[in-house]
Amino acid sequence: MTSVYRVVQSGDVRSLGINPNHWYVVARSINVSNKPVTVTLWKQAIALYRDSMGIVHALEDRCPHRRVKLSHGQVIGDELECAYHGWRFNSFGECAAVPYLAENQKLPNCKIRHYPVKEQDGFIWLFPGDVEMLHITSPLQPMGLLEWENLNYIASVAIINCNAHYSYLIENLMDMYHGHLHQDYQAWASAELQDIHEDDNCVDVHYTAQSYYKIDKIWSISQLFFPALRRLHPEPLDVSYIYPHWASKLGQDFKIYCLLCPVNETETKAYLVHFTSLNSFWRLHKLPLLFRKFVKDSLFGSAKKLLDALVRQDVLMIEEEQQAYLQNPEIKNYELNRALVSVQRLMKSQVNSLTTVQQEL
Ligand code: FES
Ligand SMILES: [Fe+2]
Repeated sequence: MTSVYRVVQSGDVRSLGINPNHWYVVARSINVSNKPVTVTLWKQAIALYRDSMGIVHALEDRCPHRRVKLSHGQVIGDELECAYHGWRFNSFGECAAVPYLAENQKLPNCKIRHYPVKEQDGFIWLFPGDVEMLHITSPLQPMGLLEWENLNYIASVAIINCNAHYSYLIENLMDMYHGHLHQDYQAWASAELQDIHEDDNCVDVHYTAQSYYKIDKIWSISQLFFPALRRLHPEPLDVSYIYPHWASKLGQDFKIYCLLCPVNETETKAYLVHFTSLNSFWRLHKLPLLFRKFVKDSLFGSAKKLLDALVRQDVLMIEEEQQAYLQNPEIKNYELNRALVSVQRLMKSQVNSLTTVQQEL
C-alpha cells in the first residue's frame, strides 16, 4: 500500500452540481408504461410515459396552464393529458389540444421542455444537457451495459435511495477498503490499491483482492445462498468512475454497474446492476438459444438479496457522512486512499468544464 496521506478538501465537493451533458439513468424500462410516472433528476421533475407505439418520452413535469404536475394525468394516444383541465401536450412539449377551446380562440402558444431519452439495456437514459452536444459528429452515447442482453450473464438489480450527495456514493464505490463493512456478507476481502489511471471522463483504479466466490461449476451459483461453499482466493478488482456512472469487475465472474440519477445536493438515486458470468460453462453455450434465454430469465435477480443487504450497509454509512458534513461542513476528513483524490478531481473538472463552455458561448 502507498504511504499517501491526504486531507480531502471536501467542502465544495459536497455541494457540487452535475455536468448535465451526459446520459443519466432515470428509470427501469419495466417501470415506464402508458401511465405517466414522475422522476427527479438534479432538481428537475420529469414526466415519463410511453406513447401508442410504446416509445418512451420525457416532458418537464409541469403543466404550463396552472403549473401542476402533468404526471397526474393520462396518455391519450400519443399525447399527455393534464389531470386538471385536460390540456394535452405532444412529445415536443407543445400544447396540442384544449377541450374547451372556443371557436374564436387559438391554442395557447405554450411549450414545456422535452428531453432526449433512449431505452437501452433495461433502463431509460435521459440527457438533461445541451442538445447541441447530441448533434455533433461523435455525439455522446449512454454508457450501456454490454452484459444485459448477453445470454452468458445473469443480472440482478438493486435500487439505491440515499439522503446524501452523489460524491459520497461514488467515493464509497471507488474505495474498496470498505470491504470491512461487508464482512458478514462476504463480498470481497484484502483489497490493495495497485494503480490509478485517469483522464477527462474517467478514473480507473486497479486493486488486488480476494474473492469469496468462484463461478466455475454448474452448482457454483448456490454459493450466493450458502456461505459454507465459499473459498477465499485472489482476484483482480477493477473499479471505474466513468462520469457520471460506475463500473467494476471482480475477476472473470462478476461485473457490477452503478447507474446514477442525482436528485439534489442531499439526495441520490442509483441502480446497482450485478452480473454473474456463465462464461465458464462451455457446455451450456451449445444448448439452444431459447433454453439459454430461459436459464438467464429464470435466474434473473438471484443476487438481489445479497445486493440489497450490501446497499443497506453502505447507505447507512453514506447518510451518516452527509449528516456529519451538514452539522460541521468546515471539518475536513482524513483520507488514505489516493483514488478518492482522483475521483474528486474528476467531479470538479466535469462541472468546471461546463462553466468554461458556458463562458465561451
Ligand atoms: S393545470 Fe393543466 S390543464 Fe389546467
Ligand atoms: Fe459497499
